[in-house]
Amino acid sequence: FSQILFKNPNEPPLVFHWFPFVGSTITYGMDPPRFFQENRAKYGDCFTFILLGKKTTVYVGPRGNDFILNGKIRDVCAEEIYTVLTTPVFGKDVVYDCPNSKLMEQKKFMKIALTTEAFRSYVPIISDEVTSYFKRTADFKGQSGIVNICPKMAQITIFTASHALQGKEIRDKFDETLADLYHDLDMGFSPINFMLHWAPLPWNNRRDHAQRTVAKIYMDTIQSRRAQGESDAQDMMYHLMSSTYKNGVKIPDHEIAHMMIALLMAGQHSSSSTSSWIMLRLASRPDIMEELYQEQVKALGADLPPLTYEDLAKLPLNQAIVKETLRLHAPIHSIMRAVKQPMPVPGTKYVIPTNHVLLAAPGVSATDAQHFPQPELWEPHRWEKESPLAPSMVRNEPDEEEEEDKIDYGYGLVSKGAASPYLPFGAGRHRCIGEQFANVQLQTIVAMTVRMFRFRNVDGSNKVSGTDYASLFSRPLEPANICWEKRERHWE
Ligand code: HEM
Repeated sequence: FSQILFKNPNEPPLVFHWFPFVGSTITYGMDPPRFFQENRAKYGDCFTFILLGKKTTVYVGPRGNDFILNGKIRDVCAEEIYTVLTTPVFGKDVVYDCPNSKLMEQKKFMKIALTTEAFRSYVPIISDEVTSYFKRTADFKGQSGIVNICPKMAQITIFTASHALQGKEIRDKFDETLADLYHDLDMGFSPINFMLHWAPLPWNNRRDHAQRTVAKIYMDTIQSRRAQGESDAQDMMYHLMSSTYKNGVKIPDHEIAHMMIALLMAGQHSSSSTSSWIMLRLASRPDIMEELYQEQVKALGADLPPLTYEDLAKLPLNQAIVKETLRLHAPIHSIMRAVKQPMPVPGTKYVIPTNHVLLAAPGVSATDAQHFPQPELWEPHRWEKESPLAPSMVRNEPDEEEEEDKIDYGYGLVSKGAASPYLPFGAGRHRCIGEQFANVQLQTIVAMTVRMFRFRNVDGSNKVSGTDYASLFSRPLEPANICWEKRERHWE
């Protein structure tokens, strides 16, 4: 009754719940996309639910995406939500452990290191890592077999990202100490740590030890690089070592080290979840995997020469695979912001008060039939313009005519309008800086895997595994077994 009696008419409708503090925490936590869809059907695009005692207002659809992700700095704040989780993992003075203006500068440094020239150097690094991984890994011995693909993709992601972004010295350490240390750091990212981040629990002690040790490894590497002098390497660490803040201060070594951790952690979960989903989707559609192979033969020649950055642009289906997989399986299902001053929702009577948290869920519009016909169907060909399944009003990648519609947050121009139904990389001032890197990395991993294997589901069906929402980033439920068979070539 209290939910009805004390309802403020200017607040969005509150999702019905039985218990005060728990609210809708359990139904939300078990399957966030389903929770959003069911409540959207009941309450409309904007509604509030109780998440661990906190009034959390969801606003879905392109307008909701824009309202939250493009929120002004005086209205919304990301660091207030995320810092308890990220600071113990990344370390001090970076990302959310500093004023937003400093994060904008840090993002700018990272973004400008990701040039075309850098990407050109990354494609051979990534393709060599992928081929050598498959060739040396015991689970891929023989002509065919069955494998739980997720841990394999997690390893490929970390080897490729660390080698490309952080250089060979760091990559080689992943065969020794770094893999275990990053595993310990990762435990700090468990959702329970939104509440227990401070507690002297065994996993938090391991997290803190790992953070100190990893940061020291990076700082030692920075120092030994300085001692060696100039280099023409294109990795991110070199770039940051020669970058200076607007106030004239060079980035201190501990901040470079912490940014290295942040970069790898930000990219690791999202890219490895996405590459696992891609492989599972390909196993469920061997016909598309074959099409991808033929696309390479046609575009690059039957002998399939070593892959280059320029080749990726010649493989539209290979690109569409990544896009379509992120449409259905975006790893970040909820993006949260604290509300700093009452925010009227345009076109409605609602005003969101400061004791609410805002939650954007761009995955809802990405799976809405209004924008994507037959939304549940994984169909990479829908991204071809003439397809009857082609998405409508997708404004994620503004063309040049929209140049004046962009805003400079300090880390490069970002489209002003976030009113798009397709935003797997977010929007506004917190938008992902790793989008192009992730695309290069994922497209290269897919292209090389397709050269080496045919996949299918173990039972020959076209089913895909369910989604695991237990950690912050959603990913396939494991074991996610697929059947692999080697193609005759590319194994010499
Ligand atoms: C931010 C998605 C890969 C670095 C974000 C955000 C999303 C996202 C949705 C916005 C978060 C928010 O608004 O709170 C993804 C996906 C990826 C991916 C789907 C891969 C498929 C990467 C990679 C890197 C990276 C590879 C690093 C090389 C970052 C950084 C931010 C960010 C630094 C900024 C955080 C902020 O400003 O608050 N990403 N990301 N991401 N991402 Fe990514």
